[in-house]
Amino acid sequence: MSDQKNNAAESSNEPSADTLTDESFDGIQQFDHPLPKWWIWLFAGCLVFAPPYFWYYHNGTEGRSLADQHDTRLAENLKLQFSQMGELKADRETLVRFTYEDSWLRVGRSIFKTNCVACHGRDGIGQVGPNLQDDHYKNVRDIEDILRVLQNGANAGAMPAWKSKLSTNEIVLVSAYVASLRGTSDGSGKPAEGREIPAWPPAPPKDASEEDPAAQG
Ligand code: HEC
Repeated sequence: MSDQKNNAAESSNEPSADTLTDESFDGIQQFDHPLPKWWIWLFAGCLVFAPPYFWYYHNGTEGRSLADQHDTRLAENLKLQFSQMGELKADRETLVRFTYEDSWLRVGRSIFKTNCVACHGRDGIGQVGPNLQDDHYKNVRDIEDILRVLQNGANAGAMPAWKSKLSTNEIVLVSAYVASLRGTSDGSGKPAEGREIPAWPPAPPKDASEEDPAAQG
């Protein structure tokens, strides 16, 4: 008798006030009100949706979050200007100048994310390759050495040579980004390797970077 009532309530999905469950606790009984179908589907939908979502966005792959995509677009936009700046010289003066140019460091950062994070970790905290945030370096004594290490590699190819894979402009900008990472360590990265080296040269005075004919004449 009560079974029939229960079945009727389940199939119609309409909560009926007079259907009681079979259980009774100290004489207290409860109505049999099934969860609405839409609620159950929503719940099941969430369960199905969550694992792929989690896998896609939280598996550590760079470039999938909105912030990363924004960075990439910004960098692409800057690269447009980049094509107008012509070929940079891979020398000390140019590198020092770009180490202090925030907008170009973003381009360096995106190059770093694409090519270097696998070995040097996010923001250069160190992984297979050394930590690039501290004051200790294995192959670098002067800021200019960063360019040489990038062009020719180091330690018999453990650090690959990038001369043939990146343009000179890219090498200069990613070197500037690497230089800018120095001093950003919060202590959580790979332990220091190599020797402590003197601080980078200070930022050049603004005018020196813009060849202003009036200033010279
Ligand atoms: C295949 C792994 C790998 C990749 C990819 C890689 N590096 Fe390295 N890198 C290393 C290793 C290993 C060393 C340390 C070499 C040594 O032991 O002397 C190193 C050293 C360096 C150094 C010198 C650090 C020091 O302490 O002397 C710099 C700078 C550097 N890498 C920058 C980069 C940049 C920028 C990129 C991307 C364009 C890059 N690396 C990509 C593995 C890598």
